[in-house]
Amino acid sequence: MRAHEAGALHGQAGDRGPAWLRYPEDVNALVPSLWAENVAKSDGVVTVAGVRVDELAREFGTPLYVLDEEDFRHRARAFRDAFAGADVYYAGKAFLSVAAARWIAEEGLSLDVCTGGELAVALRAEFPPERIGMHGNNKSVAELRRALEVGVGRIIVDSFEEIARLGALATELGVRAPVMVRVTAGVEAHTHEYISTSHEDQKFGFSIAGGDAMEAVRQILADDGIDFLGLHSHIGSQIFVTDGFEVAARRVLRLHAQIAREFSVVAPELDLGGGFGIAYTTQDDPSSPETLARGMREIVEGECAALGVEVPRLSIEPGRAIAGPSTFTLYEIGTTKRVALDGGGARHYVAVDGGMSDNIRPALYSADYSCTLASRESTAEPVLSRVVGKHCESGDIVVKDEYLPADVAPGDLLAVPGTGAYCRSLANNYNHVPRPAVVAVRDGEARLLLRRETEDDLLALDLG
Ligand code: LLP
Repeated sequence: MRAHEAGALHGQAGDRGPAWLRYPEDVNALVPSLWAENVAKSDGVVTVAGVRVDELAREFGTPLYVLDEEDFRHRARAFRDAFAGADVYYAGKAFLSVAAARWIAEEGLSLDVCTGGELAVALRAEFPPERIGMHGNNKSVAELRRALEVGVGRIIVDSFEEIARLGALATELGVRAPVMVRVTAGVEAHTHEYISTSHEDQKFGFSIAGGDAMEAVRQILADDGIDFLGLHSHIGSQIFVTDGFEVAARRVLRLHAQIAREFSVVAPELDLGGGFGIAYTTQDDPSSPETLARGMREIVEGECAALGVEVPRLSIEPGRAIAGPSTFTLYEIGTTKRVALDGGGARHYVAVDGGMSDNIRPALYSADYSCTLASRESTAEPVLSRVVGKHCESGDIVVKDEYLPADVAPGDLLAVPGTGAYCRSLANNYNHVPRPAVVAVRDGEARLLLRRETEDDLLALDLG
């Protein structure tokens, strides 16, 4: 019997997979652009900073997020150096733990948090509060109060209600609230709709075109308790082309100049947000921090010169581009099956011991990933495979299309690169599956950053 092709999710019938997927010359080899810098293979076994993944699996269990600490630090430094003279706020929503916040502090970056929970992690790490930016489109009064009490360096306001709340809190606490105004520039970013944030019809920011942004600045300047630092624009996430940034930056700078004219206030800062794409598969071709920095400076300096305004101090907020490539997820294979497809091809299904609870991105954004057999070399022929999870949902896909050796079998380890951003932070307990641990490896030493959740952790929440 032939398998029924059930719509878009299954797409691309046949045994060749999508157009971008190349038949591998050597199915055992790693594609270097997809892996953290200290990941290698030795006799078919993936190693990270000299530690073998079969040892990590034995010690910490699977699934396991394996983080190359030097890679994470190096990417943070690369942004800091490329954007010298600007401020780099690491977007903690991509991945945050106490240790990660410390690395960010040590590497000289600032930190973007977007909830009280992320702020609590930063404070536990003793992150310098003046280097923290606080985001959120619906911050609670308690979150705002805490931010002001600990003295965060900037609060990015997102609504008129928030301006009023901040004004009242600043008076009550006898402090001044340093704010930036998040604006929507009205651009359509070329990325998935759910991670696109600068078109008009979505929840974030004050509209430039609709006049709300000017009105927000007017209200802020009229409030004695609030200091206006500047404008903030984030157009979306996993973006490769710079034209969206360029249009947004021009619109935001025009607003910056208009504010200077109408209110006689030159805002000292401008934040252009994050969103820089990374390589999940061979179809992605990310820009280096240097290229991004050069492009951004050219746009901002050119536009400021044309508008006759001083260049404000720039800041950016990369999350994914720092955390994403640093980590791979290690799974153990549990079952396999072969499905005959229309047209004579076949697809191998390879089920691993995690899935949409540790990486919901394929289900949520149709995100593509790649993977490799991580625990041995294989001489079997590469076959088109689909890696799926253990959850009760057919959309529980980990890697939709990849060539794996035909002989992958239960007990083999599989590694999926590029899972450092928005995988642990979006992890969930669907089907009562405990969330995996995060282990950081550096110089041959493995250290747990976040321990694995247990069934007892989950049961402890259930009061019967
Ligand atoms: N700044 C602001 C204001 C943001 O909203 C975001 C991401 C960032 C910076 C960092 O963006 P990045 O450089 O990491 O792309 N869960 C989605 C991504 C959501 C992004 C939300 N905001 C995903 O897994 O793709």
